[in-house]
Amino acid sequence: MTSQHPEPGSTGTNPARQDGTATDPAPGTALGADPGRRPGVDGPDPLGGADAPVLRPHAEDAFADELAALAAADDRPRPPGWRLSPWAVTTYLVGGTLPDGTPVSAKYLGSRRLMEIAVASLATDRALLLLGVPGTAKTWVGEHLAAAVSGDSTLVVQGTAGTPEEQLRYGWNYARLLADGPTPEAVVPSPVMRAMRDGAIVRIEELTRIPADVQDALISILSEKTLPVPELRTEVQARPGFNVIATANDRDKGVNDLSSALRRRFNTVVLPLPDSLEQEVEIVRTRVAAVGRSLELPPELAALAQIERVVTVFRELRGGVTLDRRTTVKSPSATLSTAEAISVVTNGTALAAHFGDGVLRAEDVAASLTGAVVKDPVQDRLVWQEYLETIVRDRAGWEDLYRACRELV
Ligand SMILES: Nc1ncnc2c1ncn2[C@@H]1O[C@H](COP(=O)(O)OP(=O)(O)OP(=O)(O)O)[C@@H](O)[C@H]1O
Ligand SMILES: [Mg+2]
Repeated sequence: MTSQHPEPGSTGTNPARQDGTATDPAPGTALGADPGRRPGVDGPDPLGGADAPVLRPHAEDAFADELAALAAADDRPRPPGWRLSPWAVTTYLVGGTLPDGTPVSAKYLGSRRLMEIAVASLATDRALLLLGVPGTAKTWVGEHLAAAVSGDSTLVVQGTAGTPEEQLRYGWNYARLLADGPTPEAVVPSPVMRAMRDGAIVRIEELTRIPADVQDALISILSEKTLPVPELRTEVQARPGFNVIATANDRDKGVNDLSSALRRRFNTVVLPLPDSLEQEVEIVRTRVAAVGRSLELPPELAALAQIERVVTVFRELRGGVTLDRRTTVKSPSATLSTAEAISVVTNGTALAAHFGDGVLRAEDVAASLTGAVVKDPVQDRLVWQEYLETIVRDRAGWEDLYRACRELV
């Protein structure tokens, strides 16, 4: 990538791009030059604000050391445009130990095979669709995949019902357009266009929330790997390393279902809910610890016993049966995802740290636990009350949780 802008007027309608012949891999047109900026490369960002550390660094910054160690240790073949080999990308995701003993933390807790499938499909000419119920780490995995493969997880389109086609193709800087007419400098590239140009991964969040006709702009991008700019009689051709990771929510099915033409261009990987109590507790524990570190909450607060209880409640209500499979329970309308369990425990930790005696107690988790379960004030309240009376009350060692929740209902 370059931060130099070509001379105005020197570029633009590059006829070489018209006939589909191979073009100079170095960015040639102003569309190829980067009007965007690279944090840390282009000097201080005028919009960036104070010099304080950011609340949530991008994956490639937060795990820069691990990525560098992996790159150094990685002697396997790398697909064109990739920073790491598929093996190293998978190791970055699921964790492991490098030959020289460097530990790599696990970002995704779950099946290694599933991550291998996701990574392998990125190395093909098909895009990757991460599908699953809310809170199954679709966004999280997408971000880490982009960081490991391209070293940049910031090319993102957030899909909403209002996502315009410009977000997938390109828009115009209207002041420049009016002053100079359509010139390469007046083009505002979308994250997709920038990813094509730079040979990087672009993430499209919540793809199925995007209106169907806007989604269809992706079809030609994915099959031709070309984004035409008819106003300038040119096009942007994808460089090696370009691919798309989209996420979509099972629950949104039917909102704007993917057309079959688009679906065929994606390999779908379904991210499951955690298999076991132990696995889900481990996910919540590690994530709460990480979030707590960034909020400067005391680490020892996130007591394992409390996490285990929260996750047990979540799994029982979600599954409609107690973990010992003896008693059926009603499920509330809420999804009760792992992500929500993480925030229940984080909120409890904040309460304990700021208002409690420094130990995470039942009272601290009860409030956000109730809030997570009772989303519908009538139906869910009944479900929750029944669960409290029939399950929580009589469970050995859960008296404090029963009392704390009881007080709130
Ligand atoms: N298997 C897992 N391994 C590691 N982290 C997980 C796992 N499942 C959930 N998480 C954690 O859950 C949190 C939420 O995940 P994320 O936002 O990626 O979910 P999502 O699937 O994109 O949900 P939504 O459909 O609501 O967008 C993240 O902090 C992530 O670390
Ligand atoms: Mg998401």
